[in-house]
Amino acid sequence: MVELLSSPINYDTMKAAIHLEYGPPEVVNIREVDKPVPAENELLIKVVATTVNRTDCGFRSAEYFVSRFFSGLLRPKQTILGNEFAGIVVAVGNQVKEFSRGDKVFGYNDVTFGAHAEYLKIPSKGAIALMPENLSFREAAALTEGAHYALCDIRAAKVKKGQEVLVNGATGAIGSAAVQLLKHEGAIVTAVCGTDNVELVKSLGADKVIDFLKSDFTKTDDRFDFVFDAVGKSSYGACKNILKKHGIYISTELGKNAENIYLALITPLVSKKRLLFPLPYVSRDDVYFLKELAEKRVFKPVIDREYSLNQIVDAYKYVETGQKIGNVLIIVDEQE
Ligand SMILES: NC(=O)c1ccc[n+]([C@@H]2O[C@H](COP(=O)([O-])OP(=O)(O)OC[C@H]3O[C@@H](n4cnc5c(N)ncnc54)[C@H](OP(=O)(O)O)[C@@H]3O)[C@@H](O)[C@H]2O)c1
Repeated sequence: MVELLSSPINYDTMKAAIHLEYGPPEVVNIREVDKPVPAENELLIKVVATTVNRTDCGFRSAEYFVSRFFSGLLRPKQTILGNEFAGIVVAVGNQVKEFSRGDKVFGYNDVTFGAHAEYLKIPSKGAIALMPENLSFREAAALTEGAHYALCDIRAAKVKKGQEVLVNGATGAIGSAAVQLLKHEGAIVTAVCGTDNVELVKSLGADKVIDFLKSDFTKTDDRFDFVFDAVGKSSYGACKNILKKHGIYISTELGKNAENIYLALITPLVSKKRLLFPLPYVSRDDVYFLKELAEKRVFKPVIDREYSLNQIVDAYKYVETGQKIGNVLIIVDEQE
């Protein structure tokens, strides 16, 4: 049995961005579809804000064929994308103890997605938390995607206070989160970005900035405990010389001919310098951790453009330019 919040909303259908086949942004259409009905252990959330991010792009395009083993071999299993969200709980299954109707929540779900819609259902024990009180729906919606990838890679590299870290692509969703999370860990951060964003990256806490339009970071005289290529534009081979003796390299991309997969297996056997390829994972604890950092203003997601749900194809096109600064929002409910 499900308790519903009494309000004049239509309980049967909702507006959603759906894609029934893999392909370019244009495969996404706005349709009226059945509103999800939460099971006994699920919440129904009225989505206020969500993002279009590189995870959505990857699942929509199925550019890497291997991703189809998760998302559906011939056509997408999850037809409504959208993995991070902020919104209001409007219904709870009768076994739900953690949340109540009216709660403002945010979270992440890259298993069933569904946030590119007016309503989203999600297990109450998922990667979801009450919204930080000092954050808007817009900021809360962008708290988890880039940050959980950054968190996963920083943990894999076992970054310690005082270590020297280089972040390439410090203006992306992952990179801009990584700079802030690394500073929180006490690392000394060199960030790589384009000329226009040098001041932004300094404001995130970077100790040193390299403008990639003016110099090649792989030729710097500095040496690093950890080189994190948050936009996957470099290679282990090109960065090996700037790693310290026991330095670690991580990229967010597979690399040329998927070399980062096999280099992760080979480098620990042949060198003290290593490439790691951690598999990303997000838990509820991670969401609580990010919430705590956001409450303390230690971490603040960088927000670039915002679009309405009707403009989602344009949002996808912009994200796929590879030039977004931080996060691109979809405002589903303008009233909140
Ligand atoms: N397949 C998946 O499911 C998946 C999921 C998440 C992330 N990823 C990968 O992770 C990477 C990062 O994602 P993201 O969302 O954080 O990226 P993003 O936000 O799309 O990154 C864009 C930023 O990277 C900067 N940039 C572009 N080329 C650069 C270069 N050569 N050197 C330094 N900075 C450069 C751009 O700055 P300028 O405008 O100054 O060029 C822009 O600000 C992407 O490669 C993405 O494909 C993949």
